[in-house]
This record gives sequence, structure tokens and C-alpha cells, in this order.
Amino acid sequence: MIEQKLSQKSFSTAILNWYDKHARRLPWRSPPGERPDPYHVWLSEIMLQQTTVVTVGPYFDKFLTLWPTVHDMAAAPLDDILTAWAGLGYYARARNLHKCAIAISEEFNGHFPKDRDQLLSLPGIGPYTAAAIAAIAFDKSEVVVDGNIERIVSRLYRIDMPLPAAKKKITVRAAELTPLQRAGDYAQALMDIGATICSPRAPTCVICPVADFCNARTAEDMERYPVKAPKKVKPTRRAVIFWLEREDGFVFLRRREEKGLLGGMMEFPSTEWQEETIPVETAIKNFFSNDFQKRENRITEKAMVRHTFTHFHLELQPVVISIKEMDKFVLPHGQWAEPREFGRYALPTLMTKVARIVIKDRD
Ligand code: ADE
Repeated sequence: MIEQKLSQKSFSTAILNWYDKHARRLPWRSPPGERPDPYHVWLSEIMLQQTTVVTVGPYFDKFLTLWPTVHDMAAAPLDDILTAWAGLGYYARARNLHKCAIAISEEFNGHFPKDRDQLLSLPGIGPYTAAAIAAIAFDKSEVVVDGNIERIVSRLYRIDMPLPAAKKKITVRAAELTPLQRAGDYAQALMDIGATICSPRAPTCVICPVADFCNARTAEDMERYPVKAPKKVKPTRRAVIFWLEREDGFVFLRRREEKGLLGGMMEFPSTEWQEETIPVETAIKNFFSNDFQKRENRITEKAMVRHTFTHFHLELQPVVISIKEMDKFVLPHGQWAEPREFGRYALPTLMTKVARIVIKDRD
């Protein structure tokens, strides 16, 4: 075990020395010795919550070009933010991003609070993000624990309790190791070590600056940690999804409910997402009026689109319907859009997949 009193200093010194030489250059980081802009830190941390560094990079740059300051973002329409966010997933983040920008702009005069508890009161900022912003942007000695840091700490101490139950134990250990100075650099150093050295599989302990402190390394059972509770099997939901196309090539889009999964994003209309399979003929019968079914509309099935969300798998059966007699066709809360203009709509990745399958299949 690590001798706390003696080793906290040597552990964090080894980490910070490594960071000074090997820190990854990432768009939201400032050069050594300079404080980063809290707006940049906040934006990057929200984007990085469930998305990888590689994916986030271009989105981060795009957002700063569109909205250079938090006031600019606060003044933007929510729909522009959702559209720019399309592809990053977990869209509640984009709605909270906008709400938080408005709060900072209006209630805090454009300045992010430095205090962890004040940060916690803002939309979209939970304990991890509050600690990360306080540490990285304001050099507060906060304990930052993300997935990478969980892995490192659980290996250092060979924590046998499975996640997520072990989170508390890991946080206590992480707190004991956190330095009073440069806690932001220290946290980002651990993130970098987790991403590049202390990887889930085959970690490269030979280049790890803290290998000598690591109990799992000594026992040579690094890959056992973090111990995870067995995964629950995800259910599969299914639906028929309609690509309704007018003779001029415009396709029908509707907006999802504000609350819930993909809230406020655009979609092609579909039947309910449910576990039972619904035959295409039944789906069409249930979805459209009799009047619509009687008319001569061309109907084609396309290849199944599969997507996985946090809690379920989804299988969508696309059905292309070329609509004649447009004047008689009425659908609630939606709009017609040209496929080459889809980039201007807040279409989530799932719907982009549907569009790709329909368009590809046709060429
Ligand atoms: N993941 C979350 N925050 C990060 C950061 N600041 N640097 C690298 N990876 C991160």
C-alpha cells in the first residue's frame, strides 16, 4: 500500500513532472504556466462528458468560431446549438449548455464562478464537471475523478469492490493523492496517463511515471481493475421509420418532444419504439389515414438501421414512400426539407444513418 503521508508528495510530483514533458496538446488547453479561459474549459468538459477527445476536437473549434464568448452563445437560438451539436450524441447536454450560457451571461456577468458549489448549481454541471472546471480553470485543489482516473486509482490500490459501488472508495483515495497546487494540471495528467499508458487492456507500465506506486503492477494483474459489476442485457426496441418523399424530392421531418431522449431534435416520423416487431403493412395502416393508403403511393423497404443507446438497442426498418397528390397530404408539426440541406437541421446521428441508408440504396 502507498504510505500516504510520505507518498502523496512524491506521487503528485512524479505525475506533474511527467505532465510537464508529455502533456497532450489539446485545443482547450493553455500553454504551461498560463491559465486557460474558463469558457473554453467549461465547453470542453461538457463535450468530453460522454465523448472522446478525438471526436470533440473539431466540435470544440466549430463552437468557438460560431460563438467566441459565452455571451455569443447565450444570444444564439437553441436550434442553432442543437444543429451544431448534431453527431455528438446525448443531446440534453446541448440544451443544458445553452441554459448554462444564459445563466453565466445574465446572472454572472459573463464570468464563470470559481467555487465548486456555485458551479454545481448551474445547468448541466454535476460533481465531476464542477470539480474539473474549478481545478483546471481556477487552480482549486478539487478532486477530479473521471473514468480514466477511476481506472488508475483502482489499479494503484487494487480495489476489489466492483464499480459503480466502488466510486466512493476510489474518490477517497483520489482525494488523498490530490496536491494542493496545480490540481488542474494534475487531473489532466492523470487523464492523459489513463488515455495513453494506463489503458484498459495491455497498459504500458514500463513508461508509467508512477509504476513504482502501483499495487496492480506489482501483482501483475492490472487488467482485473477496475472490477466491474456484470452488465445488464440491453433490450432491443424496434420501429418502422418513414422516409416520406414528395415529387420535388423534399422529405418530411418532424421535431421530437423537448423532454426525453434526443429531445428537441429532428427525426423522420416512425412508429413507437417498442420491443415487439410491427409488420410494415400494419405500421402504414396505423400511421396514415385510410385516404392516404388508398392512393397510388410507391412504397419501398430499405436495409435495417441499427443503433445503440445507453439503455437499449434500436432497429429501425426504413420505408420510403413516394407521395403523389401532395395537396391532400397533411401531417402534424413537421416540415419538408431537401436532403442536401439536412446539415442545417438538428438531425441526430441515428437519423443521419437512416438518411444514408435510404440515399445509398437508391444510387
Ligand atoms: N476528458 C475530460 N476532460 C479532459 C481534459 N481536460 N483533457 C483530456 N481529457 C479529458
